[in-house]
Amino acid sequence: MSPKVPHYAVLGRPVAHSLSPQIHAEFGKQCGIAVIYLRLDTSELGFADTLARFAKAGGVGANITAPHKAEAAQLCQSLGYRAQQAGIVNTLIWRNGAWHGANTDGSGLLRDIRERHDLNLESRRVLLLGAGGAAQGVAPALLEAGISQMVIANRSLERARQLAERLDAADAALACTLTELPDMGSFDLIIQATSAGHHGEQLTLPHSILQKDSLCIDLNYGRAALPFTAWARSQHCRRVADGLGMLVEQAADAFAFWHGIRPDTAPVYNKLRISARL
Ligand code: ATR
Repeated sequence: MSPKVPHYAVLGRPVAHSLSPQIHAEFGKQCGIAVIYLRLDTSELGFADTLARFAKAGGVGANITAPHKAEAAQLCQSLGYRAQQAGIVNTLIWRNGAWHGANTDGSGLLRDIRERHDLNLESRRVLLLGAGGAAQGVAPALLEAGISQMVIANRSLERARQLAERLDAADAALACTLTELPDMGSFDLIIQATSAGHHGEQLTLPHSILQKDSLCIDLNYGRAALPFTAWARSQHCRRVADGLGMLVEQAADAFAFWHGIRPDTAPVYNKLRISARL
């Protein structure tokens, strides 16, 4: 990269699998904007140094992926509303010589649920599986979408409690362990936000969490989404999705921050479904 050419990147460890460069290239084509977008693996220099080097070379916007989303929030001079609420940043915008952090994971998930899966969140019961970075990133937006209750179920109860406390929503956000799920009733929406699938592991989930028309979404895509989506299908759940929709929607919100225009996500989503064999 020649110095000082404004450019964009996804930073993470690993990033070789990331579909973000392809998504932003498609958005750029659609909007007539020439986008230079790199993959930056942080394994060698660490997150802070990789980001500093990127900014020095003319980096003006970045997507942050695992495991740096919480650290990214710490490095920002200012944070947008969702990023502040979640303490999680997935989008960086270079402004006046410093990084501004935004969180488009929550808004991306909401748009995916409402528009792609046609679920109105008003008064719904939601089960959030996991309490790590992925869950923290989407929990505040879900809670503000008019749902009646969110149950946060995590392997470690302590972490689920911490997330519920951070949300500060009294009985609207309850914490429990995965083993307590048989006592928690059924849910309109179930969101799989653990990293178990990345290790090929399967959560043990009771059939009782499902109701007739539950929507089950795994925030992962590809192989990592398979254990949960396969479980949901094996329970005869008819509305099952992976995280590709959220991925494309959060990317469109990031694109809008950087370029001032929100692209049409449907053609890009459809193309990726086919080309990435997802
Ligand atoms: P991420 O940023 O992907 O969310 P993380 O912050 O390390 O990663 O969080 C991982 C989440 O997946 C946590 O909720 C973790 O549960 P614990 O808090 O109890 O560790 C959950 N997780 C990972 N592997 C799991 C497994 N095999 N079974 C159940 N939960 C698992």
